[in-house]
Amino acid sequence: MVGPPGVGKTSIARSVARAIDREFVRMSLGGVRDEAEIRGHRRTYIGAIPGRIMTLIKEAGTMDPVLLFDEVDKIGADFKGDPASALLEVLDPEQNKEFVDHYLEIPFDLSKVMFITTANNTDTIPRPLLDRMELINVSGYTEEEKVEIAKRHLIPKQIKAHGLKPEQIRISENAIRNIINYYTRESGVRNLEREIANVCRKVALKLVTKKKENYSVTPKNLSEYLGKKRYFYDIIEGQEEVGVTTGLAWTVVGGDTLFIETTAVPGTGKLVLTGQLGEVMQESAKAGISYIRSIAGELGIEEDFYKTKDLHIHVPEGATPKDGPSAGVTMCAAIISTLTGIPARKDIAMTGEITLRGKVLPVGGIREKVLAAHRAGIRKVLIPKENERDIDDIPANVRKRMEFVLLDTVQDALKEVLVK
Ligand SMILES: Nc1ncnc2c1ncn2[C@@H]1O[C@H](COP(=O)(O)OP(=O)(O)OP(=O)(O)O)[C@@H](O)[C@H]1O
Ligand SMILES: [Mg+2]
Repeated sequence: MVGPPGVGKTSIARSVARAIDREFVRMSLGGVRDEAEIRGHRRTYIGAIPGRIMTLIKEAGTMDPVLLFDEVDKIGADFKGDPASALLEVLDPEQNKEFVDHYLEIPFDLSKVMFITTANNTDTIPRPLLDRMELINVSGYTEEEKVEIAKRHLIPKQIKAHGLKPEQIRISENAIRNIINYYTRESGVRNLEREIANVCRKVALKLVTKKKENYSVTPKNLSEYLGKKRYFYDIIEGQEEVGVTTGLAWTVVGGDTLFIETTAVPGTGKLVLTGQLGEVMQESAKAGISYIRSIAGELGIEEDFYKTKDLHIHVPEGATPKDGPSAGVTMCAAIISTLTGIPARKDIAMTGEITLRGKVLPVGGIREKVLAAHRAGIRKVLIPKENERDIDDIPANVRKRMEFVLLDTVQDALKEVLVK
């Protein structure tokens, strides 16, 4: 199961075991660097012990438990061997009938075990290992989903954990929404749960120090419990500006909106990129410029702009590193707006990789990106045509309120965002 932190991957694995009525055992692979942790030490070593897998099977007491390898993307490797290769054998149904632990030295049948692994992203999982897995994407939650999760699970759980009685504390729905929007910024619900716990603690304190019997938490008095608001979402207003476009990014904490600012000044054709842009993103900007040069005439841009003007592309919030090709179309539109002097609409967000010919290629994370756009008050998003099927993954209540435009080429995007 692959997904951002706190969306419930570990919890789902536990629930799967409960649902099929099997024992549940878990091993965290985060930071495991030694092959012997998986496969055991030979008995000739002093202090030799069996590997974790055999220990877990023993702990489960059955041949067919659900075995969770948590955080498989954080597995390490060093001179003591590569634990990932040891896992190869364990996870391959053809080979794990005869798994040999170095300590036990006799084959053991692991084929009845149900293996589940979790990861935050697949990039760092070795290819051969990934090849033995079936990927299930667990994506982030919408605000509505978080509200429901809070009401049905997190609040009752924390009330119980803090020794309160349900009638002593009431957290209103709007207070929950405010906690979600102003005190947490995440795809999952882990921080939401922590903030709810925080509220419960404060209420518990009040119950023992004050006379009042029950407390109601509303948006008005929320700051008494949690302090000042910590996050503000960019609410995007509809004004138009030359050289600024709105893009959509996708990071481990979920989707986010980002602004791309460009400006052109007389110079010698230098290109300056700031805002901690990764290499792929810089290359994508360069490809955009080459494309613009090839169609400068059509757009009414001076053909020699690349010799007579210095271009500066800046993506604010420089502290957050940004990378990936998916801002290609956004950067391209911002540059064209700067060079033509035509204002661009900031209330339309877009995402898409571009080619040198100006075609728009599909990108990942459409669901998260659209949710972020919706949160920021945007009602129209431009996405690559080949991402059309991803629209189905967007929760219906958000999808209904959004207008989607499918992009084939950069020109399609220009038609939407440039005001003339
Ligand atoms: N859909 C949900 N319903 C109820 N509770 C949830 C849900 N999703 C997550 N939680 C709660 O959020 C917390 C974090 O979940 P969990 O540890 O399973 O996340 P995870 O996906 O394994 O995260 P990580 O990638 O950081 O390991 C848990 O307390 C869990 O109960
Ligand atoms: Mg986990």
